[in-house]
Amino acid sequence: MKFYGEAFDEDARLRTSADGRMELVRTQELLRRFLPPVPARVLDVGGGTGIHAEWLTRDGYDVTLVDPVPRHVEAAAAVCSATVGDPRALAEPDVSFDAVLLLGPLYHLPDPRDRQRALLEACRVARPGGLVAAAANNRYASLFEHVTYAHLHTDRICASVSKILESAIYDGIRGFTLSYFHRAEELVAELTDSGLEDVQVFGIEGPAWSLVKAAEQQPGEGPTDDLIASAMEAARMAEPYPELLAANSHLLAVGSVSGIDDA
Ligand SMILES: C[S@@+](CC[C@H](N)C(=O)[O-])C[C@H]1O[C@@H](n2cnc3c(N)ncnc32)[C@H](O)[C@@H]1O
Repeated sequence: MKFYGEAFDEDARLRTSADGRMELVRTQELLRRFLPPVPARVLDVGGGTGIHAEWLTRDGYDVTLVDPVPRHVEAAAAVCSATVGDPRALAEPDVSFDAVLLLGPLYHLPDPRDRQRALLEACRVARPGGLVAAAANNRYASLFEHVTYAHLHTDRICASVSKILESAIYDGIRGFTLSYFHRAEELVAELTDSGLEDVQVFGIEGPAWSLVKAAEQQPGEGPTDDLIASAMEAARMAEPYPELLAANSHLLAVGSVSGIDDA
């Protein structure tokens, strides 16, 4: 939590880098496909500074945000109703939202029992037939990412990335915080085991995101608009092919809450 509370500017993450902007636009694109029509109540759990709450509110949703980091909640309060809370023990009443988003908490909960608690809480506060959408860090993302920095071949980074590939956990000692990296099939299994139905998983940035990131990291002009547009198209074209999921930076799984909605 110290990482977000003191060191890292989460608000800038999806706004400044090219791969961050790809993540934002593709997350919007995928969520808009599955969200219920407005008016509807959306709970954004681990919603950070309100980056998604902002466009969801503009789209006409009634958004409530919960995040464990007070600094994030203070920023998000400018956008929507926002409170400090733990994704594993939400204060919200049962059956009170049409959609619940977990775009962050699952990758900060290395213990599978904590991830299940967060998913069960999302199912509890959503109405039957409602949407639960959960994002994950892809297991192989750091392999691709550290090529873009051109240092994967150095002993330290090679050892660190190998450890993530083997254990699925980043210890948070340098850079990013303690985090869990999912395989796509594991993310689907976690949502299904929490009782969600019709679970589907998507790659967010697509299999060409690291080309864009490399163009941004390496000396030169940076990624052109055409390169970014092509990589975005690759993300859309890759959707029907599960074997390409492994090349994404982030994954998004969606499922619907079981039970008949008689509201
Ligand atoms: C990478 S940010 C994502 C923010 C936003 N939802 C987005 O998609 O851009 C992860 C968020 O999860 C929150 N979070 C939830 N559970 C956490 C935990 N156990 N440890 C650290 N951060 C946690 C962080 O405060 C942060 O706002």
